[in-house]
This record gives sequence, C-alpha cells and structure tokens, in this order.
Amino acid sequence: MGKLRLVVLSGAGISAESGISTFRDSGGLWENYDISEVATPQAWKKNMPLVLEFYNQRRKQLYEVEPNSAHFDLVELEKYFDVRIITQNVDDLQERAGSTQVMHLHGELKKVRSSIDEDLVHTLEGWELKKGDLCKLGSQLRPHIVWFGEPVPMMSEAAELTQTADMLLIVGTSLNVYPAAGLVEYARSNTPVYIIDPASLPVAHIPNAVLIKEKATIGMKQFVRTVLPSSPIS
Ligand code: OAD
Repeated sequence: MGKLRLVVLSGAGISAESGISTFRDSGGLWENYDISEVATPQAWKKNMPLVLEFYNQRRKQLYEVEPNSAHFDLVELEKYFDVRIITQNVDDLQERAGSTQVMHLHGELKKVRSSIDEDLVHTLEGWELKKGDLCKLGSQLRPHIVWFGEPVPMMSEAAELTQTADMLLIVGTSLNVYPAAGLVEYARSNTPVYIIDPASLPVAHIPNAVLIKEKATIGMKQFVRTVLPSSPIS
C-alpha cells in the first residue's frame, strides 16, 4: 500500500523560531509597515524604491537564518507519509531543510520576475534587487511575490491537492489571508485536521480539528507523537 498523503498548510509561524518575523503578531511586520505602501501593485507604481528596499531587507535576512526543527520534522515525515507542503511563506527554509514537495502560494523571496511577463521568473544572485535591473524584455524586474490585490496563480492546484489529503496539518498561520485560508474547506469531510499555533485560533468552523496550542517546534513533536506513536523522530 502507498503512503498516506499528509498535506501541510504552513505560514509565517513555522519560520518564527528561525528568527523571521510573522506579519500579524505583536511586533510583526505589518505593525511596522503599511501593507498598502509595500505589498500592493499600487505601491510598486507609487514608490518602487520603497518596495524594493522592503523586499531586499527580507531577502537579506533570509541569508542570516537557518531552518528550525519544525521544518526538519516535516522532512523526516517524508519517510512515513507522502508529504505535500503548501506554504504561504516566501522564505526557502523548508526547501533548505530538505523537503521535496513545496508549493509557494505567495511567491518566493529569492526569485524575481519581469514586470511585463509574469512567466519570466529567475533566481536573483545575492540579496539586492535594484531599480534599473531589467528582464530580457527590457522591463524592470520585480520581486516574485503575490501582492495584495493580485490573483494567486497556484490556488486551483493547491485546492485540488488539499482535496486529496488523508490528513491535513495547518501550522503557523493566522488563517487571515484569503484565498489561502479557504483551502481548509477543500479537505474531505472525514479528513483529520491538526492545527499547530500558540494562539487561540478560532477553529470551531473546521470539522475534525485538533488544536495543538504550541509553538511550531514543540507542536510538531506533539503532532509526530500523535500520528506516529512509535517513531524514532517523536
Ligand atoms: P500571520 O502573521 O498572519 O500569522 C502567523 C501565525 O503564526 C499566528 O497565528 C501566530 O499565532 C503564529 N505563530 C507565532 N509564532 C509561532 C511559532 N513559534 N510557532 C507556530 N506558530 C506561531 O502569518 P500568515 O498567516 O503566514 O502574504 O500570513 C499570511 C500572509 O499574510 C503571508 O503569506 C503574507 C502576509 O501578508 C503576503 O505578503 C502576500
């Protein structure tokens, strides 16, 4: 028999213990920056240098942090499950930990793309994207990030994947941002849903939800103990 499929929906909280700020916690990024000034197509038109600088700083920080044990536990779980990760995160910590199946719903910090052809994407060398850095069509390169107000290109693929889950694990997301937060609705009605988050998320609307009210590193260990009681990684 094949492995059971574990679909994971992750958010900023899984990378918090690596030292990357979340968005909506106290002290989070959106407390210090106005979303509309840095993470929208309008901001890009109005003040490109500010948007470039915001993402340059995020990218620079990414070179200074490392994956944590929550990322590594998801890698280990590939021995036991067909693990498919749908992340809202734009960092690459999950891939650096070794996960083989990661879908980035909101883009990737280390990638940039043409501002006139969204399929013209490449990996940036180093951390700094500057005004005047052009794609091969001659247009300004922009961060490969899905900004507020833009469609989420991977959404239907993510929804289809969620439908095939034998088990769903939600870790480190406030479930505030749609359409990503709506993915949970696509899980089959009998699919167990585990949620790891230190905050008291309102999850009453999610059938079969088991809340593990812990930070990601501790919560992942608890999750592994629950689904694999005799495994060496628990
Ligand atoms: P949020 O900042 O909205 O939520 C982070 C969640 O992580 C909260 O529920 C926290 O309680 C939880 N958390 C904090 N520390 C944690 C820890 N150590 N372990 C586990 N959980 C922890 O971040 P997201 O839900 O990821 O989009 O935000 C979704 C999207 O909004 C992001 O992808 C980004 C943002 O604006 C774009 O920029 C397009």
